[in-house]
Order: sequence, then C-alpha cells, then structure tokens
Amino acid sequence: MKPLGDVPWPPDPIVTDRLILRETRTEDRKGLAELLSDETVQAYLGGPQHTREELEELIPQDPNTRPGIFAVEHAGEFVGRITIQRRDRAWAHHVREEGDEVEIGYEFLPITWGRGIATEATRAALGWIERTLPGEPVVLTTQVANEPSLRLARKLGFVEVERFMGFGAEQWFGHLRDE
Ligand SMILES: CC(C)(COP(=O)(O)OP(=O)(O)OC[C@H]1O[C@@H](n2cnc3c(N)ncnc32)[C@H](O)[C@@H]1OP(=O)(O)O)[C@@H](O)C(=O)NCCC(=O)NCCS
Repeated sequence: MKPLGDVPWPPDPIVTDRLILRETRTEDRKGLAELLSDETVQAYLGGPQHTREELEELIPQDPNTRPGIFAVEHAGEFVGRITIQRRDRAWAHHVREEGDEVEIGYEFLPITWGRGIATEATRAALGWIERTLPGEPVVLTTQVANEPSLRLARKLGFVEVERFMGFGAEQWFGHLRDE
C-alpha cells in the first residue's frame, strides 16, 4: 500500500444527502472490525485476515493512520470506508508510464447494500480527489466476479483498461474516463 502523499488531512467533512465522509475516528473501531472480519464483505478481497475479536485489539485507538481513508457515516453510524492510495510504479498495470496513479476502493457493510449508499459515497470521494489532486488519473481494480463492484465502477464512469489474473482470480483494471 502506497500512501497518497501530501494532501490536506484530515479534510473538512464532506456532507451528501444521506452521508458524511470524514477521517476515521476512535468510535469507528467497532464498525471497522465488523467490516474487515465480515466474510461477505471480504469475499472478493482475499477473505478476512483476522476475526472480529482480533481486529478489535489490532485496530489502533486512533485509526486515522494515513491520508485517504474515509469513514462513511450514515444516520450517525459507521457504514463503510473508501480507501484512496497510490498505485505503486513497481506494480504491474498502469495508465501512465510513471505509475503512482490515484487508486480508489470501497467497502460497505451489507446492511447498506442495494440502497445506492456506495454510489453516493464514492461519487463524493471522487469529487474530493478532483478538487484535491486535479487532473490526476484515477484507477480501480476489482475482481470480474464481483458483479456489484463492477456495476458500481461502471456507473461511476470507470472504463476497462485491461483484465489480468492476480490473487488467483480474474481482475478488472479500469480508469475514470475524462468527462
Ligand atoms: C461493492 C459494493 C460497495 C456495492 O454496493 P451496492 O450497495 O451494490 O452499490 P450501490 O450503492 O451502487 O447500490 C446499487 C443498488 O442500489 C439501488 N438503489 C436503491 N436506492 C438507490 C438510490 N437512492 N440511489 C442509487 N441507487 C439506489 C440501485 O438501483 C442498485 O441496484 P442494483 O445493484 O440492483 O443495480 C458492496 O457490494 C461491497 O461493499 N462489497 C464488498 C467490498 C468489495 O468487494 N469492494 C470492492 C473492492 S474495490
């Protein structure tokens, strides 16, 4: 994981119709442990690496460890996170020679699925990227088999660059189309 680098952080909270996007806070630890230990959420992300109990110990008291990790709050509760990082030039698959593109990922608790919450949150995060890192290419990788994720990526305007085999599955690598 390569950090985003020098961006103003924590950001002013981003408020949408139903959500608030902000840095992760101590009160999010329980929700983060739930998100990271949930078999369904982690199904296409390599599966949970730890149990919920382990995560409740492992997640730092202040989970705001680096710029680019947005907690998403709905009705006062943590419901998911959006992770923004750099795609290290040492890795394969890029849309520019020097690599280091801005890469986005999303994970939401199943109680929110099918309500457009992920769409609303990710759109807001893409707006933040555009304001904070204007002109930077934005990329996304997801398993082809992860249909809800691929549907969301396409809805947000990501277009396929290539598919490749990685982590034992077919991966879809896309970039955000210039408007
Ligand atoms: C990927 C993931 C975020 C998608 O969640 P989602 O809830 O399906 O995504 P959306 O926010 O786009 O919701 C879409 C559905 O809500 C419906 N919806 C209901 N109310 C809506 C509203 N007010 N606005 C927009 N859509 C709405 C849409 O019609 C759509 O239905 P469809 O899936 O039948 O087409 C979720 O499955 C997840 O967290 N997965 C686990 C983590 C993961 O695999 N991440 C991918 C790694 S990059």
